[in-house]
Amino acid sequence: MKNILNYIMLLCTMYSVYASQPDWSKNIASTIYSKCTSCHHDGGIAPFSLMTYQQAISKKNAILHNVEDNHMPPYPANTSFREYAHQKNLSPQEKQSIIDWINNDVPEGDISIAPKPPEYTGNSIIKNPDFITSMSVYTSQAKSGGADEYKCFVLNGINENEQFISGIEVIPGNPEIVHHVLVYQDTSSVGDSLDALTPEPGYDGLGGVGSNTATLLGVYAPGTEPYFFPKGFGLRLQKNAKILLQVHYPAGSVDKQDQTTIRFLFNKDINVREVKISSLLDHQNIIDGPLIIPANQKKTFHQRFVSPINASIFAVLPHMHLIGKSTKIIGITPSKDTIKIIDIPEWDFHWQMAYTFKTLQKIPKGTVFYSEVQYDNTVDNPHNPSNPPKLVTLGEGTTDEMMLTFFYYTPYKAGDELISLENTGISTGIAETQLLQDYVLINNHIIQSENTEPI
Ligand code: HEC
Repeated sequence: MKNILNYIMLLCTMYSVYASQPDWSKNIASTIYSKCTSCHHDGGIAPFSLMTYQQAISKKNAILHNVEDNHMPPYPANTSFREYAHQKNLSPQEKQSIIDWINNDVPEGDISIAPKPPEYTGNSIIKNPDFITSMSVYTSQAKSGGADEYKCFVLNGINENEQFISGIEVIPGNPEIVHHVLVYQDTSSVGDSLDALTPEPGYDGLGGVGSNTATLLGVYAPGTEPYFFPKGFGLRLQKNAKILLQVHYPAGSVDKQDQTTIRFLFNKDINVREVKISSLLDHQNIIDGPLIIPANQKKTFHQRFVSPINASIFAVLPHMHLIGKSTKIIGITPSKDTIKIIDIPEWDFHWQMAYTFKTLQKIPKGTVFYSEVQYDNTVDNPHNPSNPPKLVTLGEGTTDEMMLTFFYYTPYKAGDELISLENTGISTGIAETQLLQDYVLINNHIIQSENTEPI
């Protein structure tokens, strides 16, 4: 009797192992199509396609390795610290299924039930934009084995009335080489002057677009959707402002051409709530600065910023350069509640993103934001641009560092915390920096809005 019971239990175990064994058609293809192929398709930014079973299994060892150590898909935020809208990482179950599938010899399963591969046409999602602007055609100079290129371009803006942007879409001219794009507006002529220094279009810039008055409008990383604000909200686009782009072309893209386009939707409502994108955690509120990281040292810095208003936050976007190692931000409310903002345990300059909360996050007035940011200026850091390491200080160059976090925010109104950011089409994107001086403007603005708008 005991033997029979044992036998039945063994059968049950075998059955459940068998039933849970993932195969391509039933489980894996849908994960690869939703989490990998936005970059891994022919003409995409990744070096190979994962659109078919054959393509995926030919890379199985590399996939196993990169999925196990969370290198792929690139999504550096720790989602057990806080979850975000439009998360791009694998869920623990998806990750385990891929690992089990590869360890179990990549079964194909019943291909007739496999999902249809997605189509990547490069067509835009904003079909009827209110405004379109494009850069001039640029030919990359970034040679294989050399340095990446960070090029800034000056594009036309709007000349009539100012507008509120409700949607913004970056369409890379050449998706194989456009690694990230930052979109700024600027009413000064600094961009034009810098551009005029050389005959070819554009000028160099890694940290920003070289102008103190430029403000961030949006970010793009491969695989991200356009950024839409929820109904009633918008980002102010000033009349007569130029649109400045900073585009990252990786080493090896030499001689390839790009002409990136930006499409805007405007909010036509009479009462639009203005969203700001500003670096509230900035170099000026480093409490143990200045930002100096001597050669062969690891250093940790902290920032502190007190919110002078009740605010609603849409998203955050941390920024450092190449020797940045990690960043963690929390807010402590006046009633001593902790609001987890973001934790990036392994910073990667190449995968910078805006992390959008699932719903608007209320920040009570008086909330203190704290950041802890680590830098590794030793030879252990594979991203260190200098070998042997050199003294690193604050600046915009490739070998300088920055310590900023942009917040997408608006003054709080009752009920904001119920507004979902999941279904607006808001997505993550990569972004870089803004300049120090903006900090003062931002704080003036917050204080001003506090004085003028009853909250
Ligand atoms: C946002 C774009 C993007 C997404 C999404 C993405 N990849 Fe990648 N992947 C890249 C790029 C770019 C590279 C080459 C540079 C690098 O390794 O970082 C790459 C490299 C790889 C490599 C080779 C790494 C090596 O060791 O050389 C593997 C394997 C891989 N990806 C698998 C995946 C899998 C599996 C997924 C989904 C679970 C995925 N990727 C999602 C962009 C992406």
